[in-house]
Amino acid sequence: FIDGERGILRYRGYPIEQLAEQANYMEVAYLVVHGELPTKAQYDGWTHNIMQHTMVHENMKKVFDGFHYDAHPMPMLISTLAALSNFYPASRNVRDEAVRMLQIYRLLGKVPTLAAMAYRHTKGLPYVMPDNDLSYVGNFMNMLWRMAECRYTPNPTLEKALDVLFILHADHEQNCSTNTMRIVASSESDPYCAAASAAAALYGPLHGGANEAVLKMLRQIGSKDKVAQFIKDVKERKALLMGFGHRVYKNYDPRAAIVKRAADDVLAKLSGPDPLLDIAKQLEEVALGDDYFIERSLYPNVDFYTGVLYKAMGFPTKAFTVLFALGRLPGWIAQWREMMVD
Ligand code: CMC
Repeated sequence: FIDGERGILRYRGYPIEQLAEQANYMEVAYLVVHGELPTKAQYDGWTHNIMQHTMVHENMKKVFDGFHYDAHPMPMLISTLAALSNFYPASRNVRDEAVRMLQIYRLLGKVPTLAAMAYRHTKGLPYVMPDNDLSYVGNFMNMLWRMAECRYTPNPTLEKALDVLFILHADHEQNCSTNTMRIVASSESDPYCAAASAAAALYGPLHGGANEAVLKMLRQIGSKDKVAQFIKDVKERKALLMGFGHRVYKNYDPRAAIVKRAADDVLAKLSGPDPLLDIAKQLEEVALGDDYFIERSLYPNVDFYTGVLYKAMGFPTKAFTVLFALGRLPGWIAQWREMMVD
């Protein structure tokens, strides 16, 4: 549920602020798919079923090897996500609820593995096996960043921050990528191909690709003292301030407020001050006091601060939209299942 005028977002009745503070991402994924938060037994079964499916077929390595070293990780994720369809041909039986649930576990289990493989491919690093003793997010970090150590131990600050970011992205009504998921799946295409199409829709800079575009914009501005001139240019050219504006929110995006606080926290604990965060805050302040943006009800959206946070966590800019896709996956899945059940 979204009230764009009042800046309210709820998943299945729960305010996003409450979920970000008190739930973890696996609970939220269960919530959006099943409609209720899980009991302890349901939670254990849910995470067990998902973590059972974290490995991918060895042939997937060959698919990745076909990409050039500087390939963008989003098209790599989109292609390999669609490729999963060939490994699970029975998934086409989309009218069978048991088949649907199995693909849901597989999607949630394997997409972080594919995302991590895309990342490692661009770095020229060997792929890392999943470690199912870690949390869902901790295992993702293991597959991204484990080097020669015997056992990877996730940094708890980063693990928590990434978990919260995934929660904030988990679902958002009938947005561009979710519509795509529904449209493609409405022809009874399998959920891997439908999710690949949804990810392709997300890739665009007006949707999930905005987080990457924001960081490019902040780097282009260069310093706080150039913000006023940049805003003037945006207005004169009728250009877009990336990370601002939303089709539904005509008020502050509640997710942006949570990400802004998380960015402050992570930077304070881990990497120290970042001039890009200062530029972003200055940009927000100037834009929110400017009639051009006030008249058009343009406020920071979820993508405005996520890039700075992802950068502080050590992610390259190209990986940002992949992280959005990982977070949004439960939403795509829940909307697909709801459509099929309807
Ligand atoms: N910067 C400057 N002006 C803007 C912006 C912006 N970011 N967004 C809209 N406007 C202006 C637009 O030029 C138009 O002006 P006028 O009335 O003079 O023609 C007016 O505001 C209304 O624009 P619109 O195109 O009707 O707005 P929309 O609600 O259809 O667009 C949007 C929503 C998200 C596509 C758009 O705001 C945008 O492109 N923002 C930048 C990209 C971005 O940050 N996208 C992430 C969205 S949130 C997360 C996600 O969905 O993935």
